[in-house]
Amino acid sequence: MYREIGEYIIRDWQMEDAPSIAKYANNRKIWLNLRDAFPYPYKIQDAESFILSVIKADPTTIFAIATKSEAIGSIGLMPGKDVHRFTAEMGYWLAEPYWGKGIMSQAIKSLTDYAIDDLKMHRIFAEPFSTNPASARVLEKAGFLFEGVLRSSVFKDDKVLDQHLYSFIGKTATQQG
Ligand SMILES: CC(C)(COP(=O)(O)OP(=O)(O)OC[C@H]1O[C@@H](n2cnc3c(N)ncnc32)[C@H](O)[C@@H]1OP(=O)(O)O)[C@@H](O)C(=O)NCCC(=O)NCCS
Repeated sequence: MYREIGEYIIRDWQMEDAPSIAKYANNRKIWLNLRDAFPYPYKIQDAESFILSVIKADPTTIFAIATKSEAIGSIGLMPGKDVHRFTAEMGYWLAEPYWGKGIMSQAIKSLTDYAIDDLKMHRIFAEPFSTNPASARVLEKAGFLFEGVLRSSVFKDDKVLDQHLYSFIGKTATQQG
């Protein structure tokens, strides 16, 4: 995958991305908004094992957001199984120095197009914590609709939180005929 979003790129991960990603991912403000499987502190070994697992996956569904010189974030799809096989959850994070430039709104749009056009997904969803209005806003800017509140669905940093469910629907198999 190689897609340009303005001066930034969405591309496949490379082992050489480990140092930049360990540098930017080691940020409690990022960790606070993600699942606990995302480590904090985030070490170079965490970056290496993450990139290795992403590179081994087939098909590849997790990608780097990058400048011309380094990776500055991650965006990916987790396809569902069984009756959810045409549904995918989207996850993403961006290095703090790059926040507020519109990068993630564009990246979400671009990966949603890829999921629907290339992977033939019908539904893409994301579930930001209720404490994360910036993530809700980027989903709205990318054309996702708010579906509702998942009450008390998360235990993060010793607190019970709601999640806000957003989705984007492509054509369904029935509509495709
Ligand atoms: C959430 C995140 C991905 C946003 O990326 P980004 O590239 O900075 O987003 P954009 O610049 O495209 O848009 C951010 C929008 O949120 C808004 N925003 C930022 N902080 C906000 C806040 N506290 N309350 C309300 N809106 C806020 C901005 O004003 C902007 O909207 P606008 O263009 O209408 O002004 C980034 O901050 C991040 O990586 N956070 C940590 C990890 C994370 O939260 N991942 C998502 C988990 S669901």
